[in-house]
Amino acid sequence: MIQKALTFDDILLVPQYSNIKSRGEIDIGNNLDANLQLSLPIIASPMDTVCEGSMANHMSRNGGLGIIHRYNTIDEQVQHVASAKDNTNQTVGAAVGVTDDFEERACALKDAGVDVICVDIAHGHHILMKRALVILKDMFGDSIHIMAGNVATKEGVCDLVRWGADSIRVGIGGGSICSTRIQTGHGVPNLAAIMECAQAELEHPVPLIADGGIKNPGDIVKALALGADFVMVGSLLAGTIETPGDIIYSSDNSKYKTYRGMASKDAQMNWRGRVSSLEGVSTFVPLRGSVADILQGLDRSIRSGFSYSGAHNIQEFREKVKFVMQTSAGLTESRTHIIK
Ligand code: IMP
Repeated sequence: MIQKALTFDDILLVPQYSNIKSRGEIDIGNNLDANLQLSLPIIASPMDTVCEGSMANHMSRNGGLGIIHRYNTIDEQVQHVASAKDNTNQTVGAAVGVTDDFEERACALKDAGVDVICVDIAHGHHILMKRALVILKDMFGDSIHIMAGNVATKEGVCDLVRWGADSIRVGIGGGSICSTRIQTGHGVPNLAAIMECAQAELEHPVPLIADGGIKNPGDIVKALALGADFVMVGSLLAGTIETPGDIIYSSDNSKYKTYRGMASKDAQMNWRGRVSSLEGVSTFVPLRGSVADILQGLDRSIRSGFSYSGAHNIQEFREKVKFVMQTSAGLTESRTHIIK
């Protein structure tokens, strides 16, 4: 039988009795591990139009985390890490792949002071991921946090934990710039992937990062409710001043920045001079001001979301949360609908 797989717009969380009088009573933070706490459960995607030094620095200053992308030379990536860590209190992550220079890159990043190494491949439940994680764990032991992904199944989570991952990115094919499902027919609607992966909790408790397809703060709240410990976002941060890339002016002087998938033609030509599998697109997004303002808005909305369920923290939120499925008429009603 074919299983039903829901995603963010298919559900709503049911409001519940709340004794919370102010958003300040709510703690939306979470732990990546015993030494790494984030007060804002938001992680910036390792993409060349989202996260280099400036974004990673500002994510950390605002309580989140940025993962500096790997589509550059080792020296360039190390420079970005250095610029993100002006002072040593900043928490910074950086990505590596699973082939070529990944061991040398990981060593250089560790020496540069990164707190998180993210083993970043599109299909993470893979033999090359196993090899990379075993090598990295052998090299570093528990001296650095290893994030890995992406996967979309409970089995994928369990295997990555056995191979050495300390946190897992969940989501295949749901990103706003992603064409994986169209090109390959593979993927799982992201909320369903999170719900399935969260079932690994009893066997392999590990922080889960819901990655891709998060369009608005409500989607963050739904992801946290149904099993994610953190969310990873690209489009929600795209177009901010701290993203890499020049400002582009249109003929009417409106300002834009590029946002592109790392498997888009543009991105692949840029970093390796040829295209292999095309699974992403490139677009322009309006310039949106500082990332601090965006993150503060997201922080307020997540707190309001917890408050509607009467929850003071993520553990209480998970225990209390109830959800319903909505129809397409419900979805139409859920969106502002006076403006046609
Ligand atoms: P968004 O937040 O919906 O924009 O999705 C961002 C996520 O899409 C990233 O964190 C990656 O997991 C994923 N991603 C980035 N580039 C590509 C691509 O070219 N194809 C498919 N997925 C991508």
